[in-house]
Formats: sequence, C-alpha cells, structure tokens
Amino acid sequence: MDKLKKISLDRDLDEHLYTQLYNSIRDLIINKDIKPHEKLPPIRKLADFLDVNNITVVKAYSLLESKNYVYKKIGSGTFVSSIEEDNYVRDLERIDDEAYEDIRLMDRGQIEVRENMINFASATPTPELFPVDDFKHVLNDVLDRDKGMAFGYQESKGYFPLREYIVEYLEFYGIDTLIENVQIISGAQQGIDIIAKALLKHGDNVIVESPTYTGAIATFQSRGAKMVQLPIQENGIDLNLLETYIDKYKPKLMYTMPNFQNPTGYSYSMKTKSELLELANKKGLIIIEDDFSTDLNFYTNENATLKSMDKYENVIYIKSFSKIFMPGLRLGFLIVPISLNNEILIAKQTSDISTSGLIQRAFDLYLRKGIWRKHIKYMNEIYKERFDIMVDSLERYLPERTIFSKPLGGINFWVGLDEGFSSKELYSESINRNIAFVPGGIFYPGEVDSNFLRLSIAGVYPDDIKVGIQRLSQAITKCYGKKDTRIQKKSTYRPIL
Ligand SMILES: Cc1ncc(COP(=O)(O)O)c(C=O)c1O
Repeated sequence: MDKLKKISLDRDLDEHLYTQLYNSIRDLIINKDIKPHEKLPPIRKLADFLDVNNITVVKAYSLLESKNYVYKKIGSGTFVSSIEEDNYVRDLERIDDEAYEDIRLMDRGQIEVRENMINFASATPTPELFPVDDFKHVLNDVLDRDKGMAFGYQESKGYFPLREYIVEYLEFYGIDTLIENVQIISGAQQGIDIIAKALLKHGDNVIVESPTYTGAIATFQSRGAKMVQLPIQENGIDLNLLETYIDKYKPKLMYTMPNFQNPTGYSYSMKTKSELLELANKKGLIIIEDDFSTDLNFYTNENATLKSMDKYENVIYIKSFSKIFMPGLRLGFLIVPISLNNEILIAKQTSDISTSGLIQRAFDLYLRKGIWRKHIKYMNEIYKERFDIMVDSLERYLPERTIFSKPLGGINFWVGLDEGFSSKELYSESINRNIAFVPGGIFYPGEVDSNFLRLSIAGVYPDDIKVGIQRLSQAITKCYGKKDTRIQKKSTYRPIL
C-alpha cells in the first residue's frame, strides 16, 4: 500500500477519477515501483484508501487489464503482468477521456451517435430500410391464425415450418441440407456463442482471421479460448500458413467470413475456398462460416458460400438476417453437420430455451409469401448506390499515403493510414468533425493499436457519404501533420498464445 501513496487523484480536474487512477497505476508499473506478478490491493481496500467508489477502482483495473498491464486470477485478485517493457511503449500517451469512452462503447458493439454525426461506424441498416409494413401484415396474419399458440414456448431447435422453408430457401443459394440440420438461433452472435459453448473448453485454440469480427473475439475470450490469428489478405488466407498453424496449435475450430469479411470487406477466391475445404477435411478441422452479407454482392460471381461447397460436412454455417432484414428480429439459423447436432441443440437450450415463437412464425410467413426476394433485391439496390458513392469518394478524396482496396460487395471498407499512424488518434480528430468510424485495433484480440480503420456504408445516407469522406480526409491530413499521432511501437500481429 505504501507505493500507492504516490497515487494522487485530483477531483477538480476535468478528467474521470478512474482514468486518473488508471494513469497513476500504469506509471507505477512502467517505472517498476510495482513489480511484475506483484498483487494489486483488493478493490474495496484501495477504494477506502483513496476515498473513492469501488466502481472507480473496478473500472481502472479492467482498463489496466485490457491493456495487458495486469492480469486477474479468479479468486486471488489482480496482479501486475510480466510483459517486456517495450510492449508498454505504444501506450505511453495518457488516455483522452472522451475518445476512450467512445472506443470502449464500440468495443462492446455500441456507439453513441451524436446529432449531425455522419456515421460510418455502424454496420446496421438505416431504419427506413426495414420492411415494416410487410412485417406488420405477417404479424397480424400469424396472430389471427395461431392465436395463443404464437406466444407459447417454441421447440429449441426452432419452429418446424420455418426450418422446413429454410431448406427450400437455401436451394436458391446452392446449399443442399436437411431439416434436422437447421437450428434456429436468436441472431448470428448467439450462433457463435452456442457453438463456442458446445465445442470449446477453456484453453482450446481457435483460428480466427486477423482482423476479425469483434463479437466473435469477445465470445471466444469469454469461453477462455486462445485465438491464433491468421492474416486475411485481399483474396483470402495463406493456406500454407494455416496448415502450419493447424499442426502447431491443434485448433478446435476456425472462424471465417469468406465473403465480404467484417471488417476488411475482403473475400476468399473460389480456389482458396475449395482448397480450404480440402485442408479442413484432411486435418479434421471444423470451420465456422459466418455469412452476414453474401447477399450484398455487387461485382463478383465468386461469392459461393463454403457451405454450398462442403461435401465433407466440416462447415457449421451461420446465417444472420440482421444486415438484409432487421437486426431487431434477433433471428438467424445454423446449418450444423449431423454429428454435432445434439451438442449444439443442448447449448441453445441452455442459452434461451428457444428463439421467439412469434417472430419465427411471422418470418416463416414472410419467407413463404416470397416477399424476401423482393426485399433482398431492394436492399441490393440501396446498398449498391451507397457502395458506388463510397468507392468514388474514397478514390477522389483520400489523401496520399492512405490506402484502401475496393471490395466486391458487402458493407465494409478497410482504410489504411500511412504506416505507423494511429487510427485511434484519428478518431479523436474526426469526431471533432462529426464523423464516426471504427478504429481498426478493435478488430484484433488484445486491443492493439492499428493504422487501419473500418468504414461501413450501412448507416449512412448517400448524400452524406461524399461530404463525410471529405471531412475524414481533412482529419487524416491533419493527423499526418502532427508528430504525436504516430503509433509509438509498430504493432505486429502475431498469434496470441
Ligand atoms: C460478422 C458478423 N457476425 C455476426 C454479427 C451479429 O449478427 P446478429 O445481429 O445476427 O447477431 C455481426 C453483426 O454486425 C457481424 O458483423
């Protein structure tokens, strides 16, 4: 406790107490006043000592943990990490409260959109795109037809007629499956979670693309799995490297988004897809294919899903309806290889018993009436307009030394600042101009800093895209002019093990 007498918190400062506390403890760690593996005081004790709320200490400790300065041992407390000194270096700058709060919110999949903000951060469709009237009619029809039945518990596997129709719907996408392999889920996020719950044990390895979807990172972390990061490139992944990783790390699963990946927008070539399936079969690797935007295909005929090519039954396919229909439905489905059906069903049952019966029934009717084809066509037109304006604006306005590679569909664009510049720093500069985006570091386990950022077209209107990219480009130019917006230590993305 003696060393902690060096901590001084100033209540008159316009800075949260927890960030002051974080900065003070971090300085003590960096200066080796507190040694590696030394235990930090218990939360209540430190809170009493500093005369602050317990929550202040909890927030400071979890911030230190997220930056790898400390680690927690369940039941024992919080200890100082033994990472080499240079691992701290990139984080020497003090944390700016407001930008930090925004980034934390995004990390939990949320963003505060202020008035007049042009929102390239959200990957959720703008609300006027939702098929509200069509859905109102099917809801009414279901209530008239099924009455109280619509409000009972539904089977955990899902409403049978919906599963039956999904098998038919999938024929349109070249996927041949059976009703018993279709598992209804309350959104793709739940799909990832129940697969992890069913198939992973604490300490198991999972291969993820690097960068990858934050919600998947959070799920694998929550299950105590370790992520082996396989870099994604414009046309897919390096299969030789994957094979090396499979041999070395014996992963239980691989999590992929082969079409229009989140966050990069990159897609696997057909050759990579088929070779990946061969490799998975040879090595007995289970692949999770997260299909959140294959439908939004603008410029390729190579957007077949892995599942449609999966002759060996190694792929668990996850389909979200959030980007093409409505995220608030909380509805999606899995296609599970028959050998894993039971484990997945039990995991689903213990998560939420079943997905809402009312919503499943209404969506079933919506599909059966054929309205979905019309709606997908409509969404394609809307998104393609936004996509084309985005490509044109990025090509025109992004300053020199800033790169992006044009995806062939989907909603995400991955923009790279000049080597070594931090997109987190750009975030503070761009919110001053009312532009929101997602800093790239969030898409890597361990919250590294990155010179990349993700821009999404789902939540912006066509008229705002051009002006938004112009303003963002001004912010980038301003960052390039400032020395202190550089990442102090260049991040290298190695497997975290
Ligand atoms: C790649 C990916 N998977 C899953 C999800 C979650 O989807 P859902 O709303 O269906 O849970 C998202 C949401 O953005 C996503 O981008």
